Amino acid sequence: MLRNTETSWGSLARILHWGLAIFIVAMFAYGLWMKSLPVREDRVYHYGIHASVGISILVMMLLRVFWRVANPTPLPPRNSPAWELTAARLGHLGLYLIVFGALLSGWFLAGSGKAYLDFYLFGVVPVPNLLGVNSPYHGFFEEAHELTTYGVIALVLVHIAASVWHDKFHKHGLIARMITGKPSASV
Ligand code: HEM
Ligand code: HEM
Repeated sequence: MLRNTETSWGSLARILHWGLAIFIVAMFAYGLWMKSLPVREDRVYHYGIHASVGISILVMMLLRVFWRVANPTPLPPRNSPAWELTAARLGHLGLYLIVFGALLSGWFLAGSGKAYLDFYLFGVVPVPNLLGVNSPYHGFFEEAHELTTYGVIALVLVHIAASVWHDKFHKHGLIARMITGKPSASV
């Protein structure tokens, strides 16, 4: 089923969750790799690809937020203690905020250094550089992008640990519910 229900994640929410997870983690590795390249023409080429994929992720994240509010959210497992519900809510909100922080700081950063950057939404629609070349804010957004992208990875590691802990000790089947859409037996 496309839409979420009170007990299960629909196909669109699951595709967006796992698709974006793969893209975001791959973007982190790609960002580190391209930064380590010597300053040559092909480095700017890779920056352009990184920014194009990043802007496409931004649009998919907006679709994900729209879909999240336009659909019911599957209920948490019955009898979850209040602290776990609060931690899960804050953790998920934190993931959304820090991913948007990484995306927006990246967009401001693009083309704000020594070279203008050509990049495209989904590889076709040209996207403007938000700041001019040699912007005085380049250093700020470089730091902000580094901090937020490392923050995303740190929070994702906590998120994975929490999911695995839930499944191993509480046997709620939450990972299966996010992969297959099968309702958790504990809801
Ligand atoms: C969740 C999405 C993203 C992740 C995980 C990510 C990750 C990274 C990482 C790890 C670096 C290397 C940082 C360093 O070691 O200093 C980097 C650099 C960079 N990113 Fe992203 N990025 C994302 C989105 C974006 C977006 C949307 C744009 C632009 C539209 C962008 C533009 C850049 C640029 C221009 C650099 C080079 C920075 C420099 O010259 O110092 N990134 N990114
Ligand atoms: C970049 C990587 C990831 C991000 C940004 C992310 C983000 C999120 C967010 C925001 C939610 C809340 C539901 C929603 O609003 O869509 C969620 C749910 C979930 N995530 Fe992730 N996630 C990532 C990777 C993973 C990985 C690798 C696992 C595997 C262990 C995982 C397991 C889960 C599970 C099981 C749920 C559902 C919890 C429930 O059914 O209530 N996530 N994720």
